[in-house]
Amino acid sequence: MSRAVEVSKDIYYIGVSDPDIRTFDIIMKTANGTTYNAYLIKTVDGVIILDTVKEEFSDEFFSKVESLCSYDEIKYIIMHHLEPDHSGALPELTKRAPDAKVFISPMAQPMLKSIAKTDNMKFETVWTNKELTLGGKTLKFLSTPNLHWPETMSSYLVEDKILFSGDVFGSHYYDNRLFDDLVGDFNYAFKYYYDHIMRPFKSDVIRALSLYETLDIETICNLHGPIIRKNPSKYMELYKKWSSTEDRLHGKKIISIFYVTSYKNTKNMAHSIYEGVEADENLIANIYDMTALDEQNMITILEESTGILIGSPTINGDVPKPVWDLLSCMMLLEKKGKFGGCFGSYGWSGEAVEMMNSRLKALKFRVPLEPMKIKLIPTKEELHNCYVYGVEFGEMVNGKMVEMTL
Ligand SMILES: Cc1cc2nc3c(=O)[nH]c(=O)nc-3n(C[C@H](O)[C@H](O)[C@H](O)COP(=O)(O)O)c2cc1C
Ligand SMILES: [Fe+2]
Ligand SMILES: [Fe+2]
Repeated sequence: MSRAVEVSKDIYYIGVSDPDIRTFDIIMKTANGTTYNAYLIKTVDGVIILDTVKEEFSDEFFSKVESLCSYDEIKYIIMHHLEPDHSGALPELTKRAPDAKVFISPMAQPMLKSIAKTDNMKFETVWTNKELTLGGKTLKFLSTPNLHWPETMSSYLVEDKILFSGDVFGSHYYDNRLFDDLVGDFNYAFKYYYDHIMRPFKSDVIRALSLYETLDIETICNLHGPIIRKNPSKYMELYKKWSSTEDRLHGKKIISIFYVTSYKNTKNMAHSIYEGVEADENLIANIYDMTALDEQNMITILEESTGILIGSPTINGDVPKPVWDLLSCMMLLEKKGKFGGCFGSYGWSGEAVEMMNSRLKALKFRVPLEPMKIKLIPTKEELHNCYVYGVEFGEMVNGKMVEMTL
């Protein structure tokens, strides 16, 4: 069991390490484990605790707290994020420190009850520009929703220039040396964490950065992996770069057409749709066979595309696996503002197209056109209809008639 570590005068790391975890939140691989970071601020008028840890690590967390203060000294508990990896020890902490008041964002209020399993917790809601002062320390709160859950917030300790960023700027990377200038090369973990947790909420990242940029930040005390104190602006710049949309094509939008095919019927539809999209010089069409795309490449293409068209034949009353693979990548993307559509050839029942279409709608893509379905081998006229479908879809992506058809 390791000890509390001083991050700055009177500010301590009281988090725990989980070196043996190999998968996090189902979707992430954690090759060398992770950490659940939590902090404690000592002041002349009492103690503030910032976040807790996963429940199974409670003993270590409490022994660190006890090494620094008694429970009756704890005045406030700041919960930046209520996911169980950070709120696991909260119910027990509030039992041991019954006078402490919990600070949460307004969005956290309906979650707190379900997570804490009690009605007796004293809490207050805070948001951007609200402050807490205790014993000469000032914490400014910042609303940073969706990073990683809707209720997430950050805070800034004015006197010490520390940003408590929640999951933002975290990495699933365990290294007991704790600080970015002492640990091994965690760059891959920093990017991997961004890709899985932050990328689906890029616009919220940009909004959070615009709050952080008004602050003079010397240290970033995040909730996972190395604490960042060497060059915080480097990591802020990386988030900015990854979350900004590059205008490489000078305002032209990309429409990507994905297909699978056994006898070229759906493929031929895809090519006619491609021609239709390409007829508009303000659009760039791409065409891909999903069976030959790796997941990482799928994600990169999907991310760049404003419009996504997916084509599949019906096979055994279903959509074949490469298409589901593509559809399941969408979890890692920001869907806001993206358009989708579906097409495919079929033999008799033709369920595939509706299945894909309802998935796109469920993911909140804008789906402005009815799906394009063709029985078996497309005729010349049907291929022309596919061309027209491509033209119309392109017009929708360019902003035409969207309101009427949504
Ligand atoms: C193994 C297999 C299973 C199929 N199952 C269905 C089905 O359940 N319903 C249907 O409408 N068509 C079914 N079909 C027919 C295909 O959807 C149809 O041949 C279509 O034109 C193939 O388009 P493609 O050339 O793009 O692959 C099946 C075809 C194959 C080869
Ligand atoms: Fe989280
Ligand atoms: Fe977390």
